[in-house]
Parts: sequence; structure tokens; C-alpha cells
Amino acid sequence: MATLEENKRVWDGKYKWPQGGDEWSAAWGGARMQWYGTLLPRIHDFVPADSILEIACGYGRWTQFLKDLCKELTVVDLSASCVKACKERFADETHIKYFVNNGKSLDMIPDESMDFIFSFDSLVHAEAPILKGYVTQLKRILKPTGIAFIHHSNLGEYPIYSRITPFSKTHKILAKLGVMEENIHWREGGVTAADVAAHADANGLRCISQEIVNWGTKKALIDCFSVIVRQDSPHCHDTEVIRNPRMMEEADTLLKLSKLYEPNTAR
Ligand SMILES: C[S@@+](CC[C@H](N)C(=O)[O-])C[C@H]1O[C@@H](n2cnc3c(N)ncnc32)[C@H](O)[C@@H]1O
Repeated sequence: MATLEENKRVWDGKYKWPQGGDEWSAAWGGARMQWYGTLLPRIHDFVPADSILEIACGYGRWTQFLKDLCKELTVVDLSASCVKACKERFADETHIKYFVNNGKSLDMIPDESMDFIFSFDSLVHAEAPILKGYVTQLKRILKPTGIAFIHHSNLGEYPIYSRITPFSKTHKILAKLGVMEENIHWREGGVTAADVAAHADANGLRCISQEIVNWGTKKALIDCFSVIVRQDSPHCHDTEVIRNPRMMEEADTLLKLSKLYEPNTAR
């Protein structure tokens, strides 16, 4: 369980951001490879867009790419130090608006103003009410034709992780036996892809696609990318779900390519 307070404590102080978040892209060969090889193939149909909102921007690992794909970018994060870091990093950009929020509210975003809403590698740590609260607000802030791409946890599909304390003796034994993953990357155990899809449906939205993936794990598909639109959107259709156990193979291929084609990139 990662409460809002824990998220704030970690990201707004305890965590030292040694490479501004790029450290989490190491398995892909760096943030550029992860962006061009893993993210852009999934979102290229939704960008460029006039207005983009990034929820939970951190130190701007994805902001650096999103800013060049829109006329107006808005970034929101619960951590004041993250927002400050982004303001400094993108000081030359005049089309970015910055907000520190309370970890829940998007009230600062005008109604029907966003063409594309993006959140990646952040809300995986959010508890169900927080995540669902954000999803609910998409209905108000998306333009009728707008699209959201939200990365969130699916760990709730595996109840064993809420019963066994992470890194306890029992966990270590079960990990050795292959019954549990060694590391579930602080994913939130109370969220499943199916819950998010049902919540969207109940709130005038639709997850038109969900890709359920492994994330640093061997077997467990602990994460999900949900593409969400309004039910009155021309893009709305029945939910399509795929289970993709090959995310880390994808990362591995990109890592190899980065060594070959980006020999000067710091990794
Ligand atoms: C692991 S970092 C990832 C940052 C960035 N997305 C990246 O991939 O580099 C998680 C970020 O999410 C933010 N965050 C966590 N929970 C949040 C919430 N409920 N609302 C807004 N921001 C949140 C944290 O402050 C932190 O900046």
C-alpha cells in the first residue's frame, strides 16, 4: 500500500532523483530509447495535439518529449520539488503551465480543454481511490474528441501480494520457489485493470484499450496501460484487452539497440 502521504514523503524529499528519473529507463537503454521504442509506438496516434496534460511529471522524463508535441502543455505533480525541477529544466519554454496539486484534484484544469492526457510510471503507486478520482475527472477535462493514456497498477489481480509482506522471510522463500516475484516495484495492490475499466464505464468514459504488462517481473502482469475516452467520443468502442508478458523482452531489445545505435548515450 502506498498512501498519498507516503507518495509525497518519498517523491518530495526521501528520494534523491539521482538522474532525474532517467535511472528508471536503464533497462530500456535510456529515456530516449524508452520514449521512441516503447511509448511513442503506443501513443503516436494521439499526438501531436493542441493541448496536453501530464499527470505526475516528476523531474520531466516524459515532459521533455511531450513539450514538443503540443501548443500548450500543462504538468501537475503533488511534489513541489518535482514541479520546481521541471520549471528550471524547461525554463526556456513559454508554453508550459505548472501546478502542484494535493495528489487528487485537477480542478485547475478547465472543462473540455485537453486533447491528450498522459501519465506514465507514476500512478502505478496510487491507491484505488486516488487513481479512480483522477479517472473520474477525465470526463470533465477531456475535449469530446480527447484521449487519455494512463499507466496504472494491475497488482490487484494477484491477491497473494497483499497477504504476504514484501521482502519478508516468507516472501523470499516463495520468490525462490517462483510462486511470487522478487520485486513488485511498489505497485499498488488494490488496483486491477478490470476495476479501472468498470470505473470508467460507470463515469461516462470507456477504456477503449488496456494492455496488461509485466514490469520488471518474470510472470506477473503487474501493470496496465489504459487508453480512455469519453463515451460520447467518436473514438469510443468496446474495450479491447491484451495481455502482454513481453514488456521486459521489449526493453531488452531496445537496450541492445541503444548500445549499437546510441553508443554515446550515458547509461
Ligand atoms: C516514479 S515518479 C515518476 C515521474 C515521471 N512520471 C517519470 O516517469 O519520470 C512518480 C511521480 O508521481 C508523483 N505522484 C505520485 N502520486 C501522485 C498523485 N496522486 N498525484 C500527483 N502526482 C503524484 C510523484 O510526486 C512523482 O513525481
